[in-house]
Amino acid sequence: MKEAGHINYLAHKEMERFIRPGVTTKELDKKIHDFIISHGGFPSCLGYEGFPGSACICVNEEVVHGIPSNRKLQNGDIVKLDFTVRKAGYESDMTRTYFVGNVSPEIQEKVYHTEQALYAGLKMVKPGNRIGDISHAIETYAHKHGLSVVEELVGHGIGTNMHERPDVPNYGESGTGPVLKPGMTLAIEPMLNFGRKEVEILENDWTVVTKDKSLSSHFEHTIVVTEDGYEILTGE
Ligand code: MF3
Ligand code: CO
Ligand code: CO
Repeated sequence: MKEAGHINYLAHKEMERFIRPGVTTKELDKKIHDFIISHGGFPSCLGYEGFPGSACICVNEEVVHGIPSNRKLQNGDIVKLDFTVRKAGYESDMTRTYFVGNVSPEIQEKVYHTEQALYAGLKMVKPGNRIGDISHAIETYAHKHGLSVVEELVGHGIGTNMHERPDVPNYGESGTGPVLKPGMTLAIEPMLNFGRKEVEILENDWTVVTKDKSLSSHFEHTIVVTEDGYEILTGE
């Protein structure tokens, strides 16, 4: 999983070079696909329950499961790249929100707080704590910074499958849910809206968007619970 996660991290790093006004999300998808393959992994979103891309690419009000298309990124957009890498039978899952050209300081600040919400959740990861401690920390941080929490989509266990038990909601009560144990591997992924929390699904039956068309931002890491905390697997 560490190898899968490292390829995932490197692919994200590589994409920074290509995100600019005028590029299409399909072009980004192809770069991600080719990078992962050339590094010995497989982009396991491709074909997952029929998903047509190697990456979920969401622009602005799109929350998750955006299908790569001929849509061109525009100056001031935010774009979320969410993709999994499979390597030697093990999965990793990572998401980052990127800026296209010049993004307003107000938007940048909310994206920053979304990433910090992920880290607020990660701080709770250690043996003996519960899933609800992670959930509650993310929710509390999000609300403190004026962000609303999408409830229909959650983080998850991950291993030989992309999605495993347990669910890791981004809202909930401390002291509830499964107890964390060393060796558990989780994908933690706050999806936070700048407006209201409600979402809906587009006609294509995949793409989830905010109901009020407000922006949404998303960060995700795959981690392992260690003896005294956690280690990020989707990193250097
Ligand atoms: N990467 C997504 C997640 O964070 C799932 C992708 S669904 C797929 O759970 F169909 F695109 F693969
Ligand atoms: Co993901
Ligand atoms: Co995930």
